[in-house]
Formats: sequence, structure tokens, C-alpha cells
Amino acid sequence: MLILQLLFAGILAPFTCLASPASHLLISNPALHDVNLHKRDNLCSLKTPPVLCQPNSSVTIDETALRAYKFYRAFVVDGDPKTMFSFIDSTYKQHHPGYADGPDTIWPIFCGGNKLGTEANTAWCFDVSTNMSYAQYSTTDRWRWLDGCVHEHWDQNETIPKGKCYVLNGTST
Ligand SMILES: *[C@@H]1O[C@H](CO)[C@@H](O)[C@H](O)[C@H]1NC(C)=O
Ligand SMILES: *[C@@H]1O[C@H](CO)[C@@H](O)[C@H](O)[C@H]1NC(C)=O
Ligand SMILES: *[C@@H]1O[C@H](CO)[C@@H](O)[C@H](O)[C@H]1NC(C)=O
Ligand SMILES: *[C@@H]1O[C@H](CO)[C@@H](O)[C@H](O)[C@H]1NC(C)=O
Repeated sequence: MLILQLLFAGILAPFTCLASPASHLLISNPALHDVNLHKRDNLCSLKTPPVLCQPNSSVTIDETALRAYKFYRAFVVDGDPKTMFSFIDSTYKQHHPGYADGPDTIWPIFCGGNKLGTEANTAWCFDVSTNMSYAQYSTTDRWRWLDGCVHEHWDQNETIPKGKCYVLNGTST
């Protein structure tokens, strides 16, 4: 378990830095300095996510875009781990070197319900042409959606494809 924690601390600095202000990743992002970061919904007594996404091939692209927005909200703005993981499937292929696949691997990082920013100082995107969604905060994550669920994740050298982002009714990007 200690090894696992060290692994998390090294690889997922953007998340764990919330508890360690010395992290260069947090300091290098002025947008996050004035955010009131605090824990909301601590579910860390659970060993695994309470609910995962069930793949459904009937979920439309419009529904997927709305899900991608809700996933970003839960992950970045609301710090709502239960909702966040309800959009992640049981595969969750991880493209960060040395990091295991599957939602259970990342549950310990998010179970505490950290808020990472506000809608004003972060960004999200869903690109219909690729089925990729993005969340930009102190770093930028990219996820591929399959059958209405988050299925794969990348977090290195990602950028939001501005101009290709789906515009939801009643929300701004
Ligand atoms: C699958 O998605 C479609 C479209 O949203 C929905 O009507 C249907 O109820 C879903 N099926 C299940 C089993 O959730
Ligand atoms: C994106 O997902 C939809 C189903 O939601 C599928 O019809 C389409 O082929 C996918 N596009 C790509 C580029 O994978
Ligand atoms: C990310 O970009 C940096 C600088 O261009 C490069 O050195 C590094 O290899 C890239 N990493 C990946 C995973 O592409
Ligand atoms: C967005 O709102 C317009 C006008 O109310 C409606 O015609 C359209 O179907 C909506 N699109 C989605 C994806 O809900």
C-alpha cells in the first residue's frame, strides 16, 4: 500500500497537490490560486466506487455530450466522486505509463471529493468527431467515451481542441 501511495503521489501530482501547496503544478497555475478548495463528499470508507457506468450502445452522441459535461462538473467543479465514477466503465484504460487500468486504481485519489476549480477558471470540451472529452484545470485530461461511458484516459501533453467543442444548451464552455 505504501508503494501504491508513492506511485499516486508521483504520477498524480495535479490531484494530490491539493493537500501539498509546494507542488509546482498547483503553483504554476495562477487560475487555481484563489479557488476555495475543500472536501465535499468523502467516500473513502468505501474500498471501490459505489457505482460504475453500464455501457449502453443506444446512448446518443447528444446524450454523451451532456454526460461529458456532468462528468467534468463532478470531477473538477463539484468534487463529487459518486457521480464522477458513475460515468466511468469497468475498463477505464489508463494511458499514463506505469499506471494500472481500471476505476478501482484511481478511486483512492478521488474518493475524498476534492474540488479542483470553478467553471470560470477551468474548461471542458466534448469533441463529437473523436468521442473525446477534455477537462482543463492545473493539467488537461482527455477521455474517450464508448457506449455512453468514460472508457480510456490520457493526461500528458493534452490540449482542448478549441472550435471543435460541442455546445450544450444552457451551458458555456
Ligand atoms: C440505454 O440508453 C437509451 C438511450 O438513452 C435508454 O433509452 C435506455 O433506457 C438505456 N438502457 C438501459 C438498460 O439503461
Ligand atoms: C462516436 O460514438 C458514436 C456513438 O455514440 C459512434 O456512432 C461513432 O462512430 C463514434 N465516433 C468515433 C470517431 O469513434
Ligand atoms: C510532452 O511534451 C514534452 C515537451 O514537448 C516532451 O518532452 C514529452 O516527451 C511529451 N510527453 C508525451 C507523453 O508525449
Ligand atoms: C437545444 O435547444 C433547442 C431549442 O430549445 C432544441 O431545438 C434542441 O433540440 C436542443 N438540443 C439538444 C441537444 O438538446
